[in-house]
Amino acid sequence: MAKISSSLLLHYFIVAFLLISASARDVPNHAYSTLRHDYAAPSGSNLTFVCDPQRYNNLGLDMTTFPFCDKSLPYDVRASDLVNQMTLSEKVLQLGNNNRGVPRLGLPKYEWWSEALHGVSNVGPGTFFDDLVPGATSFPCVITTAAAFNESLWRTVGQAVSTEARAMYNLGRAGLTYWSPNINVVRDPRWGRAIETPGEDPFVVGKYAANYVRGLQDVEGTENFTDLNSRPLKVSSCCKHFAAYDVDNWKGVVREAFDARVTEQDMVETFLRPFEMCVKEGDVSSIMCSYNRVNGIPACADPKLLNQTVRGEWDLHGYIVSDCDSIEVLVDRHHWLGDTNEDAVAHTLRAGLDLDCGEYYTKYVGTSVQQGKVREADIDKSLKFLYVVLMRLGFFDGNPQYNSLGKNDICSDEHVELAREAAREGIVLLKNVAETLPVNSDKIKTLAVIGPHANATKAMIGNYAGVPCKIISPLDALSAYGAVDYQVGCGEMKCKDETLIFPAMQAAEKADATVIIAGIDLSIEAESLDRDDLLLPGFQTQLINQVADVAKGPVVLVLLSAGGLDISFAKNNPKIGAILWVGYPGEQGGPAIADVIFGKYNPGGRLPLTWHEASYTDMLPMTSMPLRPVDSLGYPGRTYKFFNGSTVYPFGYGLSYTKFNYTLKSAVRSAHIKLNKFQHCYSIKYGDESNNPPCPSIRIEDLDCKDEIHFEVQVQNVGAKDGSEVAIVYSKPPQGIVATHIKQVVGFQRVFVPAGGSKTVKFALNVCNSLRVIDYNAYSVLPSGEHTITIGDDIISFPVNINFSN
Ligand SMILES: *[C@@H]1O[C@H](CO)[C@@H](O)[C@H](O)[C@H]1NC(C)=O
Ligand SMILES: *[C@@H]1O[C@H](CO)[C@@H](O)[C@H](O)[C@H]1NC(C)=O
Ligand SMILES: *[C@@H]1O[C@H](CO)[C@@H](O)[C@H](O)[C@H]1NC(C)=O
Ligand SMILES: *[C@@H]1O[C@H](CO)[C@@H](O)[C@H](O)[C@H]1NC(C)=O
Ligand SMILES: *[C@@H]1O[C@H](CO)[C@@H](O)[C@H](O)[C@H]1NC(C)=O
Ligand SMILES: *[C@@H]1O[C@H](CO)[C@@H](O)[C@H](O)[C@H]1NC(C)=O
Ligand SMILES: *[C@@H]1O[C@H](CO)[C@@H](O)[C@H](O)[C@H]1NC(C)=O
Repeated sequence: MAKISSSLLLHYFIVAFLLISASARDVPNHAYSTLRHDYAAPSGSNLTFVCDPQRYNNLGLDMTTFPFCDKSLPYDVRASDLVNQMTLSEKVLQLGNNNRGVPRLGLPKYEWWSEALHGVSNVGPGTFFDDLVPGATSFPCVITTAAAFNESLWRTVGQAVSTEARAMYNLGRAGLTYWSPNINVVRDPRWGRAIETPGEDPFVVGKYAANYVRGLQDVEGTENFTDLNSRPLKVSSCCKHFAAYDVDNWKGVVREAFDARVTEQDMVETFLRPFEMCVKEGDVSSIMCSYNRVNGIPACADPKLLNQTVRGEWDLHGYIVSDCDSIEVLVDRHHWLGDTNEDAVAHTLRAGLDLDCGEYYTKYVGTSVQQGKVREADIDKSLKFLYVVLMRLGFFDGNPQYNSLGKNDICSDEHVELAREAAREGIVLLKNVAETLPVNSDKIKTLAVIGPHANATKAMIGNYAGVPCKIISPLDALSAYGAVDYQVGCGEMKCKDETLIFPAMQAAEKADATVIIAGIDLSIEAESLDRDDLLLPGFQTQLINQVADVAKGPVVLVLLSAGGLDISFAKNNPKIGAILWVGYPGEQGGPAIADVIFGKYNPGGRLPLTWHEASYTDMLPMTSMPLRPVDSLGYPGRTYKFFNGSTVYPFGYGLSYTKFNYTLKSAVRSAHIKLNKFQHCYSIKYGDESNNPPCPSIRIEDLDCKDEIHFEVQVQNVGAKDGSEVAIVYSKPPQGIVATHIKQVVGFQRVFVPAGGSKTVKFALNVCNSLRVIDYNAYSVLPSGEHTITIGDDIISFPVNINFSN
């Protein structure tokens, strides 16, 4: 989210400028940067909390007259008391991210906006770095960590980030509420924010969300808290951007004006699912609504999306926040319903938007109430959600469990090592002819290290980063293995100049091995910047081919990017023996790349999104939202679930230095579901009506969904090297159902198997969750007939029969 000033034109100019400026993330582009929670002393003295009797004494107030400080009362009662003690104008001042507090009540200021997408970040005004805390661990960008397909890693990284966040809070350098993670599905390969996300599959994205959120939020030992409204929080996490947000700036179509036209079927199946999993499985304490409209209605003003779905059906325990200045965007860009400022804040408050990142609520809610457009009771409801979250965080009562966290817990050796581990686990081996990799360091005296990313530093930590503890570039890490001849090959990432190619070729001619490190960066894919094509920019292709052509030793191509690249030329070039994709691998990216190249780590990551051929983007505009093919317009489908054409590398692709063999050990291959008289068969469309089974399906909401499919596979490492294997399980619906997915991920596990060893991997798939189809009317249904379960690219495949009887 970028802060939008009242002068929009100026704003867009500034954003464009910030995007190309390397220090963009270090420059707070808003007026709030100097405001912190006011009781935290500047140099990290002992922190206190709201309901500290000593603090009230110092303020000259009697705490015992404020029931909201009475620990014996439930949070909701205390929150109500606090809100009831405020006047309307005091309430209004608490509705923006920069909460002003109520001095009369001893309530301090609080800045709600902090970020921790892959490490504590200073993008939000609630967090900053200085001499006391100069940096925090910068883990790989989410697209890389996602590629590890390791739920435990996702949670562990979240735990490390929240430990650093709590430590920084204790030192007065950070907030308690983090607007991370970004869990929008990568619907189109051009999207500029793929770097922030776990990829294109809604189930994988949802699993990432649930794990990362739990890593940030869960207080050890309270995972099974019965009253979710008072469950303690380590820090508060926020899943964003809700919903159907995945166009940033494509050929002049910008997110602030975009109307996503989405079918109800795609909404349920693709756009809502990760958010539903984030709320239900992750128990997240906040959701952020997005800038765009969904079918004409601004997401932040839609009572169906916010109040009814998130708050009602999913039962969010927490607050809903706007993307920054979404209400201003609603008025000035969407011109929705011709709303005045007072109409707009009334619409969003009533729709369920509790907190405004921006100043519209604090400026206009008061007059909106006076004009009779919104009731004070609507404000009270939202404020209570906000204060209960702060109570769960210990903001009022302290959180002694975390008091000991301090400087030593930030950038600790353990966290830096975890950043390296996450990068190694996320690296994907795309090509490895004749065991080009791993490179035997004993045989290498000189190494040519070439390309615009060879000395990548800040590029590796991407966006929404903080100040890293210490970045180690690939160049530095590779230098430990031999004499390095470094040639950048391109002037900058866009590589508009070919004059640096020749010296790169000379280096490769002489070296025992050549590593080319190329790709793209935030100048090509970023927030507010979608891509036009899927190719390497400028002369990069030429650089790679010409260097490979003359290289004396083996050639390894390492690619940094979030979105897929059409590198068919390299895939097909016999001179390029190996290709690695590393995403944006974080502050320890260099050592992680070196570990993989020289065989200290055997890569096992998998692509979290499809790598399309360049021609794909000529076939459909980014603004066409449907996931299914649109035959009338000749548009192909989107994501592996609906695209049935050729690719450069498919979703889930990734090789290893060893070889794995799968054997299906046991499997339950059918489920007979007995129907009671209230469970009715539901018709779904088959291409050939004569194949239509007698009871084609049952709607999921009519089933008790207790049945599970259990199976076990043995994963044998039949190669010579230890390694990790990701078993990705898909289900395919019975053949002939019209316009359904080709297949869908329903489970995955990453296992380490030593050379010559084997591991048994067990899966239990709930039939409703795993075999369901979303029909044209957006009903979730369980079709009868023969479904198929497969692992990977049909390495294992077996049928599962579902039948219904009376
Ligand atoms: C916090 O207070 C304790 C006890 O008064 C003191 O020992 C400690 O040094 C203080 N910590 C800081 C950071 O001032
Ligand atoms: C998964 O991640 C954890 C870190 O939480 C790590 O210890 C484990 O080795 C990883 N599993 C595999 C198979 O790589
Ligand atoms: C919470 O419940 C799960 C599942 O019942 C259990 O495995 C776990 O140990 C419990 N955790 C705690 C802290 O009680
Ligand atoms: C919000 O949801 C509640 C409970 O589901 C309902 O009573 C109320 O009418 C809804 N408000 C709006 C504006 O949709
Ligand atoms: C690598 O990049 C760093 C940081 O930008 C710079 O200080 C260093 O000089 C570069 N190294 C080389 C060999 O160009
Ligand atoms: C792989 O497994 C299959 C079936 O279990 C077996 O026939 C085959 O010999 C195995 N291959 C290796 C290399 O062990
Ligand atoms: C994919 O396309 C091929 C040929 O273009 C067709 O035969 C096949 O049925 C399609 N598969 C699916 C699942 O749509």
